[in-house]
Amino acid sequence: MNLEQVRADFPILEQEVNGKPLVYLDNAASAQKPQAVMDAMTQYFRETHSNVHRGAHSLGDRATALFEGARETVRSQINAASANEIIWTRGTTEGINLVANGFYRSLKQGDEILVSRMEHHANIVPWQMLAEATGASLKVIEVTPEGELDQQSFRDQLSERTKVFAITAVSNVLGTINPTREMVAAAKEAGAYTLVDGAQAIPHLGADVQALDCDFYVFSGHKLFGPTGIGVLYGREDLLNEWPVYQTGGEMIHRVSFEGTSFQNSPYRFEAGTPAIAEAIGLATAMRYLDDLGHDGLHEAEAALDRRVDEWVADFPGLTRYGQAQNKVPVLSFWLEGLHPSDLGTLLDQQGIAIRTGHHCCMPLMEHFGIAGTARASFAFYNTVEEVDTFFQGLQRIQRLFTGK
Ligand SMILES: Cc1ncc(COP(=O)(O)O)c(C=O)c1O
Repeated sequence: MNLEQVRADFPILEQEVNGKPLVYLDNAASAQKPQAVMDAMTQYFRETHSNVHRGAHSLGDRATALFEGARETVRSQINAASANEIIWTRGTTEGINLVANGFYRSLKQGDEILVSRMEHHANIVPWQMLAEATGASLKVIEVTPEGELDQQSFRDQLSERTKVFAITAVSNVLGTINPTREMVAAAKEAGAYTLVDGAQAIPHLGADVQALDCDFYVFSGHKLFGPTGIGVLYGREDLLNEWPVYQTGGEMIHRVSFEGTSFQNSPYRFEAGTPAIAEAIGLATAMRYLDDLGHDGLHEAEAALDRRVDEWVADFPGLTRYGQAQNKVPVLSFWLEGLHPSDLGTLLDQQGIAIRTGHHCCMPLMEHFGIAGTARASFAFYNTVEEVDTFFQGLQRIQRLFTGK
């Protein structure tokens, strides 16, 4: 991978912020977009835009072909068996809500929903609401001090009562890569439906839903170098065709009368109203862009960043790292002694360095570590080792200035 060429594909990275070259280390919150994505969306608006699946005219047919072509691209990129298993959503959050909504009529008292303490709120709250409404209970897999899922806690809580197992493949705070495939297999063996939150995993690891063998897999376009407002819910086709509908309205119906309404099969069954057409095309373009770059090259580039982060952290007085998993993606959550994370974020921004601070939508995980929040630097393949150095040198400067160390 030629890093200079790759960075040229991301024009936003070329700018200065507060008089300093931008160092963008907030990729876990939202990643930047390559020019190819912007070009594909602009070209669509300039040449093709029309509504889809309604066309009595050529533009409509072309828009539909691009839109369904995008679905096919996603199918092949995540190795789903059929394009009918790819549902466009607004993002991970909507995908999880859609799946959780399907359980409202079937879950009952005595049933259990199993999640983990390292979940994003998007993979906690919909299940909590479901449990409250149905009388089912929410069970939580605990986290080890290193920031890995406690496998004993998992085994202890998985049982024939577990009806839903919903887990993130990668932690957005700790960077931990969870043994998702093994855990999904165990949960299926116990008879549970399985949902994998791939929001943080797919940008680093890609996804193979058939190998993972989960019932549902969700992710967001904007974390995968694509646009906001678009995401994907993958589900097994046989399951989806039986799944209760979520939003209702135009496009998702088969027949409407005042006596009753029947619904289409997946994916249209879950796509009420006019979809985010340009965004779907943008997301498919982002996935093709990554594929063209080559996943091996991306992994190597990220591993080099991770090694440099580890070197700095090993010898950085006053820095406490949260998340020391054996298997992780390049994310660093930390506290710097004597400095509040939000102050740190502001001070780094003055040096052109963008990180995120706070609870990262993971309050139960913060509670586990006994803190209110962390500072988080999250890296993408387009970051450079020099940027890692700039970031830590920035931390050193702030530390000297504010704590005299
Ligand atoms: C692990 C994880 N799950 C879910 C989400 C929610 O994604 P979105 O806000 O795109 O719906 C995020 C976003 O940070 C995340 O990191």
